[in-house]
Amino acid sequence: MLEYEKIISQMTLNEKASLLSGEDFWHTRAIDRLKIPAMALSDGPHGLRKQASEGDHLGLVKGVPATCFPTAATMANSWDLALCEVVGQTLGKEAVYNNVNIILGPALNIKRSPLCGRNFEYYSEDPYLSGKLAAAYVKGIQKEGVGACLKHFAGNSQEYLRMTTDSVIDDRTLHEIYLTGFEIAVKEGKPKAVMSSYNKLNGIYTHENQFLLSDILVDKWGFDGIVVSDWGGSNDAVNAVKAGANLEMPSTGNDSILQLMDAVTDGHLDEKILDKRVDEFLRILYDTEIKSNLEVDLQEHHRLAQHAAEQAMVLLKNENILPISTSSKVAIIGDFAKIPRYQGAGSSLVNPYKLDGFMEVAGQTELNIIGYADGFNRIDGDDISDIDEAVELAKKADIVLVFMGLNEVCEMEGHDRSHLKISNNQIQLIQAVSQVAKKTVAIISAGAVIEMKWEENCDAIVHSYLSGQAGAKALLNVLTGKVNPSGKLSESYPYYYEDCPNVRYYPGKEKTCEYREGIFVGYRYFDKVEKEVRYPFGYGLSYTTFEYSNLVVEDHGIQCRVTNTGEVAGSEIIQMYINKNQTEVHRPVKELKGFTKAYIEPGETVDIVIPFDAYTFRYYDINSNEYVIEKGSYQILVGSSSRDIRLSGMIDMNGVQVNSDDSINLKQYYEGEVTDISSETFSKLYGKPLPKSLWDRSQPLEMNDSMSQMVYAKSLLARLAIKMLIRMRTRSVKKGKPDLNLFFLSNMSFRAIAKMSDGAFSMEMVEKMLIIINGRFFRGLGGLIKAFFKYKKRGKVNA
Ligand code: BGC
Repeated sequence: MLEYEKIISQMTLNEKASLLSGEDFWHTRAIDRLKIPAMALSDGPHGLRKQASEGDHLGLVKGVPATCFPTAATMANSWDLALCEVVGQTLGKEAVYNNVNIILGPALNIKRSPLCGRNFEYYSEDPYLSGKLAAAYVKGIQKEGVGACLKHFAGNSQEYLRMTTDSVIDDRTLHEIYLTGFEIAVKEGKPKAVMSSYNKLNGIYTHENQFLLSDILVDKWGFDGIVVSDWGGSNDAVNAVKAGANLEMPSTGNDSILQLMDAVTDGHLDEKILDKRVDEFLRILYDTEIKSNLEVDLQEHHRLAQHAAEQAMVLLKNENILPISTSSKVAIIGDFAKIPRYQGAGSSLVNPYKLDGFMEVAGQTELNIIGYADGFNRIDGDDISDIDEAVELAKKADIVLVFMGLNEVCEMEGHDRSHLKISNNQIQLIQAVSQVAKKTVAIISAGAVIEMKWEENCDAIVHSYLSGQAGAKALLNVLTGKVNPSGKLSESYPYYYEDCPNVRYYPGKEKTCEYREGIFVGYRYFDKVEKEVRYPFGYGLSYTTFEYSNLVVEDHGIQCRVTNTGEVAGSEIIQMYINKNQTEVHRPVKELKGFTKAYIEPGETVDIVIPFDAYTFRYYDINSNEYVIEKGSYQILVGSSSRDIRLSGMIDMNGVQVNSDDSINLKQYYEGEVTDISSETFSKLYGKPLPKSLWDRSQPLEMNDSMSQMVYAKSLLARLAIKMLIRMRTRSVKKGKPDLNLFFLSNMSFRAIAKMSDGAFSMEMVEKMLIIINGRFFRGLGGLIKAFFKYKKRGKVNA
């Protein structure tokens, strides 16, 4: 029985189909005849990006002014669910104010590799933490009546070839690492929408993946919202509807409508399924209808953005110099102090209604600032001409604050980094400054992991990540001690990129992206093989100290006590991990299963309670395709970081007796030695033969090939075009202004020409264009012209 049967029964087939794809970049279609309004969708995860005029999915055209909160990677360091909920609610208010029904966020893809260009938009390498934070955002956003849209579902951890790559992930890894976060966020947050990702998952595009969208999302997790495609990410409109997807975005003109209508008419698509998708869509449309004339207080939101940033700052090192005393002479070095790096580039780019810079806010305080020097050229990383001036300034100061990190080119949608280093001139700067300065403090702005060999040159380091429009004031408060830093890293900092488990497999090349490291992502790997890291997962210092005591492990969770043993009040993030020593399956030695953040006055002791939940002891059993608990005893580890375990206890769990004979076949996984997994071993873990990983250059290019494959197209013109595009792309990076459109185009699939062109091209027209690209110019051109007129004619009839 459909909820909106009455309306649906009055709809023509054309009207039904027309609701399932966009009218324009940000809206669905209204049907005036039936008084069905349009739905408005807008990015994004850390601030609203509503585009009032022209639309794009890369943040190229400015959105309306909105509050730019710290990005997800930053907020994750707060580990503060209540705060995330409040930030979410504030995003919700700005959405209501701007008449937006669905916010396209939060984004919670797993940081499989520190190189992923969008890591600044994601929470963590850990699924539990990601899921909890995302659920909090969703709850907050939806308190205001608008919908949140979890993205990108699922297995999308690289930007390179993101529209064509096939993520090859074994079942257990998929469930435990790449789906658990979404599961938590769906079950606890109850989002009104989920955005499918661009990639294929185990051979099938996620937007038409029945297993993901129906079996898992709906049947197993009880999702009752709508599934929206990523922008241009849909493939076959009919298969998408069959698999459980509701909305294809942005606009494909009439093309997808015609395909759905044809499929119903010729019996390929049961109209009942179409009705069901329409019914689901209408429910969310009416559910998220904006009914109020809410006013928003952007000043108040700015203060919240500052508070959020304060809670997320991570103090990485402090050799007794922070907080800064007001009597110290302070020199400020580094371009980022003047022009802050506070968010990343791409679809999440917010147009902040106000933006604080450090120089400006510090100038309004008691801080005794004796001067400023640029220190380094932000764009040309090899230009060291600013160092001398900085060194001269540093000599005169008691404390030198060096503002450094990743520049704008390094962190953006559509492009992964190729290394973890900061620019050469910054490294040389910090080395030179530290030689003459009495005390050197590095302030890092970067939304993702960097290598920090230069750590030894610093007396203190504050990592502010990408802290949003009010991050400067938050940083100032941390530096001066008004705020005691309490953030802890939500990702591991290896010494070198080469230490990571998946260096050989990331990013996937050409056709596939094989997740050969399996479940050993981030600290799950580093801890298993006991590899030293620069900063472990969950790490962060405070201006005070905390003592842990009295652990009691009970059936439903743990209790312990934490005392603030220092002089100042502060917050501590208490983390609970589990470990199963005696196990029949391969496992990490530590997995985060709970956490809480407590504010504690000096000398005060607080009681901490962390409950167990459905995720605490389970692992995914590939034989029964279910989560099970392995019978036996588990170690419960409670600590201040993943590598600073203060208390431990045991618990016996009733569960299934697991008998596995994989320990020989999958020996490397049992040992965590996953850096060099052969195809044969991965295929055993995967449970099937591996799909072809390389492009077949002898074959003609197809709809789902990537534009970058035109380098080997038969048509000379096509080869020249892609070469020119790549050259222009490289040039834009060198200039320090990477052209996101060019990055997008080179990673784009051919079919996306139809999916992103607002109906200018039909899928059939793109097929004919491919004939040209494949070297049969006249045949292709003839077909293209014919397809053009056919589409125009049919489009008009059915409009
Ligand atoms: C991004 C999404 C975003 C969409 C709309 C896509 O390129 O992957 O995260 O929501 O554009 O801007």
